[in-house]
Amino acid sequence: MGARGARHAASRAETPATPTRRPRKARRDVRCVNGLSIAVLLLEASDRSSPDTRGRRKRACHCLQHIGTLIASLADKVTSVKVKRAARNGDAMRPILEVKDLTVYYHTPAGPVRAVEGVTFSVHPQEWFGIVGESGSGKSTVALALLRLIKPPGRIERGQIVLDGRDLLAFDEEDMRNYRLAQIALVAQGAMNSLNPVKRVRDHFLLALRDHGVQLGEQEYDRIIATLLKRVGLRPEVAHLYPHELSGGMKQRVCIALAISLEPKVLVADEPTSALDVVVQWQVMETLRAVQREIGAAVILIGHDMGLIAQTVDRIAVMYAGRLVEVGPTREILTEPLHPYTRALIASLPSLDGRGELRGIAGLPPSLLNPPAGCAFHPRCPVAIDRCRMERPLLREVRPRRWVACHLVENGGTT
Ligand SMILES: Nc1ncnc2c1ncn2[C@@H]1O[C@H](COP(=O)(O)OP(=O)(O)OP(=O)(O)O)[C@@H](O)[C@H]1O
Ligand code: SF4
Ligand SMILES: [Mg+2]
Repeated sequence: MGARGARHAASRAETPATPTRRPRKARRDVRCVNGLSIAVLLLEASDRSSPDTRGRRKRACHCLQHIGTLIASLADKVTSVKVKRAARNGDAMRPILEVKDLTVYYHTPAGPVRAVEGVTFSVHPQEWFGIVGESGSGKSTVALALLRLIKPPGRIERGQIVLDGRDLLAFDEEDMRNYRLAQIALVAQGAMNSLNPVKRVRDHFLLALRDHGVQLGEQEYDRIIATLLKRVGLRPEVAHLYPHELSGGMKQRVCIALAISLEPKVLVADEPTSALDVVVQWQVMETLRAVQREIGAAVILIGHDMGLIAQTVDRIAVMYAGRLVEVGPTREILTEPLHPYTRALIASLPSLDGRGELRGIAGLPPSLLNPPAGCAFHPRCPVAIDRCRMERPLLREVRPRRWVACHLVENGGTT
């Protein structure tokens, strides 16, 4: 049982025990031609605590001559259950997170830094969604904004962050505090360096759990912490260590275990493997995959390493100068990138066989204090036209599930 289960168990324990079994709810809408509710009779007949069970069972038997009608009626019911199940599956295809027109500025003495501008995307339940882009493109600002953790001089200017049907930007601070960790959690960039050096690992878990109303006995806490540590491949004894006694990989796993302690629906992991060597990077990614499988969360994986992110995610969003410039399924983006910046990013990836020359992206990312007019990529774009210098391209769906912001990409592909 995870901490969420423990919390539920604790609340169940407060509910007085029910002395007798409640009869199953009858389905009164399945009827035979005599107007007797066969379903009611059959269901209640199975409930021996019902005082008139015997009489009802008898009445049900009388109606068995109309069994054909009943079967037809039940067949309708089965169809309707199938329809409902399909609808439920449709629900599963409904996004768990919808971000609309998210805009975040940092209000500095030199003017507003337009870190995130009009970002719109959605993430489905259990989906792996990647956000890639160069340093300073606004990835971490998106991550922090999703949890409403932007601090002054930063401010969310506008937009919507709809998690499971509820707009987080409309929450008061108390509701948002409860939602964080329990519904949406963040492994922040550099999180492993922000573990409190004078607190043992166990204390970090206690703080997180108690802060979210998980009140348990000491032994129960230890059991849950051991389970969470096991989930990320760490021994229970790690709970009693201080951060400085852990390797980088172990610290990052502790951060992941903390983030999943209440089994959130969405987990945001911002550069979870930066500053780790390649082998440990692989281990941390494997840990993330394993915990995702176990808790069934959607994961937003953020990084600047297109190669690393693409190995894991179902869809990729490419960010440039605070805006999304291309969004689509990973395989399609890798095999046929449509936006010139995405093409440049992919061309800069080293090939496995070591052949081919490494190509960087010419020029520098623009200042977000004073971004270029028109398309922010135009000073570096090898195929820019006059229109690009004046008119900003909008992110449009140019093919099913492919969104691109470029004047040269019309419906279906590059012009
Ligand atoms: N507290 C702040 N005050 C002023 N500007 C900020 C602040 N935090 C971030 N910025 C600016 O916002 C922009 C986006 O920063 P952000 O950290 O979101 O980028 P990033 O894509 O995560 O970069 P990296 O890959 O280096 O982590 C940058 O131009 C950055 O300088
Ligand atoms: S809009 Fe113009 S400048 Fe921007 S990426 Fe497309 S072609 Fe290049
Ligand atoms: Mg960042």
